Amino acid sequence: MLIGVGLGPGDPELLTLKAVNVLKNSAKVYVPGRLAKELVAPYAEAEILDFPMTRDLDALNTLWKENADKLVEESKKGDVAFGLIGDPNFFSTFSHLKRIMRKYYPDVEFATVPGISSITSFAARTDVAVDTSFEVTDGSEIEHKIHLKARHPRKIMEKLEAEGYNEFIFSEWLFSEKEVIIKEKEKIPEEGNYFSIIYAKK
Ligand SMILES: C[S@@+](CC[C@H](N)C(=O)[O-])C[C@H]1O[C@@H](n2cnc3c(N)ncnc32)[C@H](O)[C@@H]1O
Repeated sequence: MLIGVGLGPGDPELLTLKAVNVLKNSAKVYVPGRLAKELVAPYAEAEILDFPMTRDLDALNTLWKENADKLVEESKKGDVAFGLIGDPNFFSTFSHLKRIMRKYYPDVEFATVPGISSITSFAARTDVAVDTSFEVTDGSEIEHKIHLKARHPRKIMEKLEAEGYNEFIFSEWLFSEKEVIIKEKEKIPEEGNYFSIIYAKK
């Protein structure tokens, strides 16, 4: 299995217990750069996988494929962890890696250990409280929406459809024993619990 592990914003104490356990118990740990390697260092020896910042698509694809080959070879020996700054699913190399792996090695299984993202770290460090809707941008177009407190999921979906969103995921009680995740639009219920989220994508 290939496990994306969130390493938090930059302090080796801001990794979760789960992240530390996965790093300690993986057959191999990869990271995309030096900062990530340093964050992993108290728990495991990590190898840097090269992900160059180039716009040459052919060169990029060749390198990504080489990296995918390497990961697959290692995953035959046991779990392979890939440590990422912040959270693996937010603006991260992990998403690209998953895309490439699914293309060339669709049988490889994935898991993600969430990390403390720069988005929440920022608020903690600067004493900013966000209690109304907010936007996170890197300058690209907005294509995702995360709607908290999804007590009336279908109503929310209808509104989002009018805004051009067409893919939805409903979830409740994530990471708990009562966890619910529904990815089929037709199965999303009328009523939700307070601890629920609707995710929408354009
Ligand atoms: C490629 S994104 C990685 C985001 C990361 N996956 C996360 O969940 O925070 C890199 C950007 O995240 C932000 N970032 C990450 N760590 C940060 C930190 N410790 N302090 C401030 N910004 C940070 C910066 O805006 C940086 O340009």
